[in-house]
Amino acid sequence: MPRLRDIARAGGLPFAALASAVANPVAARDDVTHKVCSPDERICFSLTTVDEIPTYSVTRDGQPVIAPSRLGFMLRGDGKFEHSTALGDATFAEADRKWEQPWGENRLMREHYREMRVPIVELIGGKRRIDLIARVFDTGVGFRFAFPDQERLKDVRIDEELTEFNIAGEAEAWWITAGEWNRYEYLYNHTPANQVGTAHTPITFRRKDGLHIAIHEAALVDYAAFWLQRIDGQRFRTRLSNSSEPSKVRRTAPFDTPWRTIIIADDAPGLYAAADITLNLNEPNKLGDVSWVRPLKYIGIWWAMHLDQWSWNSGPKHGATTAHAMQYIDFAAKHGFDAVLIEGWNVGWDGNWIGDHGRNFQFAKAYPDFDMDKVAAYAKAKGVAIMGHHETAGNSGLYAEQLDAAMDYYARYGVPSVKTGYVADAGGVLHKDAAGNEIWDWHDGQWQSRHHLEVVLAAAKRHISINAHEPIKDTGLRRTYPNWVSREGARGMEYQAWGDPPNPPEHETNLAFTRMLAGPMDFTPGIVSLTGKGGRAVPSTLARQLANYVVIYSPVQMAADLPENYAKHLDAFEFIKRVPADWERTRVLAGAIGDYAVFARQRRGGQDWYVGGVTDEQARELTLDFGFLPAGKSYRAKIWRDGPGGGIGGDRFAMTVEEKTVTATTKLPIRMEAGGGFAIALTPGR
Ligand code: NOJ
Ligand code: CA
Repeated sequence: MPRLRDIARAGGLPFAALASAVANPVAARDDVTHKVCSPDERICFSLTTVDEIPTYSVTRDGQPVIAPSRLGFMLRGDGKFEHSTALGDATFAEADRKWEQPWGENRLMREHYREMRVPIVELIGGKRRIDLIARVFDTGVGFRFAFPDQERLKDVRIDEELTEFNIAGEAEAWWITAGEWNRYEYLYNHTPANQVGTAHTPITFRRKDGLHIAIHEAALVDYAAFWLQRIDGQRFRTRLSNSSEPSKVRRTAPFDTPWRTIIIADDAPGLYAAADITLNLNEPNKLGDVSWVRPLKYIGIWWAMHLDQWSWNSGPKHGATTAHAMQYIDFAAKHGFDAVLIEGWNVGWDGNWIGDHGRNFQFAKAYPDFDMDKVAAYAKAKGVAIMGHHETAGNSGLYAEQLDAAMDYYARYGVPSVKTGYVADAGGVLHKDAAGNEIWDWHDGQWQSRHHLEVVLAAAKRHISINAHEPIKDTGLRRTYPNWVSREGARGMEYQAWGDPPNPPEHETNLAFTRMLAGPMDFTPGIVSLTGKGGRAVPSTLARQLANYVVIYSPVQMAADLPENYAKHLDAFEFIKRVPADWERTRVLAGAIGDYAVFARQRRGGQDWYVGGVTDEQARELTLDFGFLPAGKSYRAKIWRDGPGGGIGGDRFAMTVEEKTVTATTKLPIRMEAGGGFAIALTPGR
């Protein structure tokens, strides 16, 4: 293959090196650069040593994206792995496969990359060896470290990973703080890149020349999540989340780290599409037939608790009563929702469940005023499912002890999907050691990364899907475990009930090009009452509440408001009932981080399309280009948009609903008021 020969030449290697298997010990050289480029040759990843320290860089069209950046590890009891290193021979591979998502934003996926594997070996001391594996796609790079089995590195204890990202070219960044008490639920900071502190990923950078770069990770399995910590200027490095153990990660070689990803695009819409490298870097489905994983639209005994009208705990305000559940089931059946989420039905909420770290939760025992047999039979008769709930208050140890019983219980009632929850401050994940001592861990540390997979696998055995709140960040594991359908991991709608401050209008325009690059979010849209706790105003227009169903993707999509509020806003409710939760394909039509976002998605297996647009606190007029529709076909467009005098400074409920005929050549001007948006349903016909 001449192309590979060229790559090898560029790396200064004899072509024969391509064929030779990686040997150990390897003949290492400190004067080589190994390089691998994307299938379209535009993005290249190079690895070399500078002063005998492994150093990589990334270019696009020959221009630096990641300037030379060091690699290394702090290994407990064994010193740093970084100095006095050299590179062995590189081996190359290429893949171009198509695969299908069982559910998702796009049904068809293409996994097309070139791969390079290079051993990094120490020239002195123990001559330890760690391999770097890089995969370069047309839209970015993923690289990981493989720890081969070897005498000097068996019981691997990683105190810190020293992977640097030296962002080339002056840039601004959108990011949330990492390592602080509230896990991932922060408002986005927008700062110059050289003023970022310690950030979660995905973090998105925009350079002066417009290039968009997002840094994230893929396939976070049995390892600590990394935070991106700024060192100086625009130089960052991985800082692994904390552990109760002396080292942040402990593994036995051989093993691979998660992939570190650099997603590259010309603009914000392109970045969303480019982020599919996260899924592509994960392993294929390991669960076999997953036809039982069903996208769902659901309502829930939920918002009333966030408004403080009902309670999770028992007593006069108890939300999860048999009677309430049956009313909600009636409502779901009448309006075509698949499921009803019921929170607060199980024993353990009384007293201070957060302060008590969930020590009283019983996951298979109902409060006396909730009759699960009756509710489940009623739901079944009405063709509605119950969506389960397991709030742990971060006590994943207690949950793990009860896991089989908890899942068996729901399986008995045909529950297809369980929302889990880990409400606790960062560092408040509780479990016990073998001697029964309480141990505290982090929501995104190695312990919790294992815990989540244990839950997902226990659920999969019973054909149950998992939607985790207060989760570990999404790194694309839904490809491997398709029952891990959604998660929270950012400020969701609940902040409009009680958040101080609530989410400002720019929040979703930030999410679309940061958090949503990671994967689905159970944002729980659709608060048509535009009213939070104590009657406070939600800073949104009514039309925008509809737009979020298209902008913020989740295969479990909630209609979050109270049934009585939907009855008062039937116009808006019509869209919420119509919009699907599973898609054939997605097109990001327009957007700028923090300003606005417009998404178009086609129903999975259908011909109808849905468009949603949201703006920040600025009113905007856009021209919608329907070029995403198939040519020569007419569509009936039903449009829900901000009405005259609307916007968060005006009448938030002002909404114009109108119908038009459009084709692929239609250009339609559309106005979004401040804090507003629009939604469109397109069906073939005139
Ligand atoms: C936080 C979750 O995000 C929310 O949806 C849930 O209602 C509460 N925890 C209680 O579990
Ligand atoms: Ca939450």
